[in-house]
Amino acid sequence: MHPTRFLTGITTSGTPHLGNYVGSIRPSVRASLTAGVESYYFLADYHALIKIDEPARIQRSTLEIAASWLAAGLDPERVTFYRQSDVPEIPELTWLLTCVTGKGVLNRAHAYKAAVDKNTASDQDPDMDVTAGLFMYPVLMGADILMFNAHKVPVGRDQIQHIEMARDMANSFNHRYGEHFVPPQAAIEESVATLPGLDGRKMSKSYDNTIPLFAPREQLKKLIAGIVTDSRAPGEAKDTEGSALFQIYQAFASDDETQALRTAYAEGIAWGEAKQILFERIDREIAPMREAYLALMNNPAKIETILLAGAAKARQQATPFMATLRHAVGLRRLADQATVAPTKSVKAALPSFKQYREADGQFRFKLVDAQGRLLLQSCAFESPKLAAQTIARLQREGTAVLGELAHALEPLTVDLAELDAALTLFSAPA
Ligand code: TRP
Repeated sequence: MHPTRFLTGITTSGTPHLGNYVGSIRPSVRASLTAGVESYYFLADYHALIKIDEPARIQRSTLEIAASWLAAGLDPERVTFYRQSDVPEIPELTWLLTCVTGKGVLNRAHAYKAAVDKNTASDQDPDMDVTAGLFMYPVLMGADILMFNAHKVPVGRDQIQHIEMARDMANSFNHRYGEHFVPPQAAIEESVATLPGLDGRKMSKSYDNTIPLFAPREQLKKLIAGIVTDSRAPGEAKDTEGSALFQIYQAFASDDETQALRTAYAEGIAWGEAKQILFERIDREIAPMREAYLALMNNPAKIETILLAGAAKARQQATPFMATLRHAVGLRRLADQATVAPTKSVKAALPSFKQYREADGQFRFKLVDAQGRLLLQSCAFESPKLAAQTIARLQREGTAVLGELAHALEPLTVDLAELDAALTLFSAPA
């Protein structure tokens, strides 16, 4: 079974708050521990440039978000955790996708449309203060996703349209150039709560009602004291319905703990006391992570090293895949006669796959050309069947699967175009 690939990006435009933790960080870290999934998490710093033109803020946010995810238990060995701007293949792919994306499709993107509608409503030029970056936002996001052929993209509802656009980009590219991309799907976590903020509206930076995830204990206490409540006095029964305090508690507490607070509400607990209970409960979960967070924030070099290692891992896939895509669209080496449709003489001298077993008892295969020159070398397989299946995929899907098979193959020693030409000969109709 091939693992399901999950991928999600976090725009580096702010400081993580409890809403981010409950809605994204905590469920993602848990999901990354599930068997049968491969997770990609990245810091979307190119996306941040669309909203923010303060360099120090971008840098600060990148550091804070990376430290938060790591402190919350994300294991960079287990997942691929990287910074978008460390993977130059992503902007490169953005251009290829730009060229298969209808401008009209982008005109309908929510964020762009909202900006235009606002301008129109106030009798301004429709595109006033709208950058081409905002307009292109969905294409960059499509490249993030398609670069790693992610199957599932965990996002909030506001992002569903972007995932649909990425599907369209995958399909139009595949239609023109062959099957290279998996059309992705949005994964919306129904059970994950949207956390209310201090004022009772959704916790969000744009409402300025957030509680920073790693606020120091004293500040956390102060902020919780500021959560809106009604004016019922101690002793008066309180409503759990519509109580921001209760909803936040529920997001951290067990069922039993939640039930106990419900009873306390009915029995007229004082708001001050309820806030103290909420504070203690949140702090119990956050305190150990806060320590890890502070240690990481004091060691940015360590985070930098982790991110660079993550980018190197990501590029093991992205680099060969991008080479395949460049070749697919016709960005090819000119001297490469082999890429011209095979002639009779080329067909006469076919490359071949050779399967063999080595002294270590493991099975391997290689692809050699008619002269016996090595074109591709596999790693070890436990069974001849696994080796044969891998050969079959290469024959069927060509270099498009190199990225996916990266773990099973030795690094390329020949030009990708040459390999592509050799593999094409297997899939070409006789
Ligand atoms: N647009 C996403 C957000 O604002 C962030 C993001 C960028 C993203 N690239 C992505 C999410 C790719 C998922 C997949 O939340």
